[in-house]
Amino acid sequence: MRQKLFKPYAVCCAAAALLFQIASFMAGGFSFDFRLILILILLLVNASYQVVSVESMSSFSITYPLLFPAIAFFSPAWASALAAFGAFSADEFRLDWPIFVYNRGALGLSAGLSALAFHALGGTAALPTALPGAVLVYSAVNHGLFVFGSYLRFSDSKFEWFFLVNVAKTLIPSVALSALFFMAYTRYDILGLIVAFFLFVVVRSGALLGHLEANYRLSLIRALLRATHAKDPTLMRHLENVAYYSKRLAKACRYPFWKLHILDEAAYFHDIGKLEIDDSILKKAGKLTPEEYEEMQSHPVRGIEFLKEVNLPPSHKAIVESIAGYHHERYDGTGYPHGLKGEEIPLEARIVAVADTWDAMVGERCYRKPMPIAEAIAELRRVKGTQLDPELVELFIQIIENDHQDRQGVRVFNQNPVHVL
Ligand SMILES: [Fe+2]
Repeated sequence: MRQKLFKPYAVCCAAAALLFQIASFMAGGFSFDFRLILILILLLVNASYQVVSVESMSSFSITYPLLFPAIAFFSPAWASALAAFGAFSADEFRLDWPIFVYNRGALGLSAGLSALAFHALGGTAALPTALPGAVLVYSAVNHGLFVFGSYLRFSDSKFEWFFLVNVAKTLIPSVALSALFFMAYTRYDILGLIVAFFLFVVVRSGALLGHLEANYRLSLIRALLRATHAKDPTLMRHLENVAYYSKRLAKACRYPFWKLHILDEAAYFHDIGKLEIDDSILKKAGKLTPEEYEEMQSHPVRGIEFLKEVNLPPSHKAIVESIAGYHHERYDGTGYPHGLKGEEIPLEARIVAVADTWDAMVGERCYRKPMPIAEAIAELRRVKGTQLDPELVELFIQIIENDHQDRQGVRVFNQNPVHVL
């Protein structure tokens, strides 16, 4: 029923924007400047790119920063008209007409009201307060109209709080970029705005390339997980569980937060060398012979050899190789393949070693039943300082005990393949 109301809603938005522009032109006069045409052209060029990612978590439009000099130096009516007719791409012609009409109205109203707010807050003379205030009004009006429009269009639409968090994340980059474009325009007129815009386009292209690279890397991990699952579903569950616990332990030991996502990806590769170990050894139910054990112990070196073939960024490569190559080193120096000792072992590898040991004890294996949690904790305590980093072990035990106190229990070990990425 409420879907039927979207069309009148879209027309109302567009009519309100049009009325706003007419009233504003009548009140402030119709002074035209050729710069408005140039800003319109920049907006139209920009509309073909539309959004840029902010740390892969959210996105913001550059429309507002481009529009901002018009808001600051021309009338609210022009700001509203520019937003309505400058911020659309050819793709929009393929949409149903109510959506096209709604977009014009929502953008026109958001920009017009934002311009009013900017001047009411003191305009260019009070930029530090007027600019954030104007961005806030733009964002609030635009998203408010959008949320209500979605409520009308989609019967299953419901309000999600994370939506507000994403909106908040876009505010700071919008304010910063608006200030930058404002300064470029104030100092070098429209030429400054054009140069700033194209510089931004170049930077954005770089960011998009980084984004594509990250997507490529994730698709590679997914492909590897598929291959791993095909060979050995138990091994894949083990990789998932180790990645899960490694990330939690890394957070608890204040591992640098900007490297957390790399560690998360890298933990999936820790046993990748096992893909080269023969199934007769990997899946053997009984005890391994010394030769078979030696073959099994070659998996860290095989892992590093395997990863050398993969073209990863240097920051990722170092962490991935540390984990794959050193997760069987022991804290007392009796591990393999290099016999590194204590903090000679990279932190990432010490973290993964704890998670790996834990999952080896409590996870299902072809050669034995899972160990009860209390016994596994006691075993961790027994090997701390000899096999594992003692500080990391204590932090890890706290995590496990908290899980139990919270009645969340430890992670449920998946019996079916789960795509966690
Ligand atoms: Fe391993």
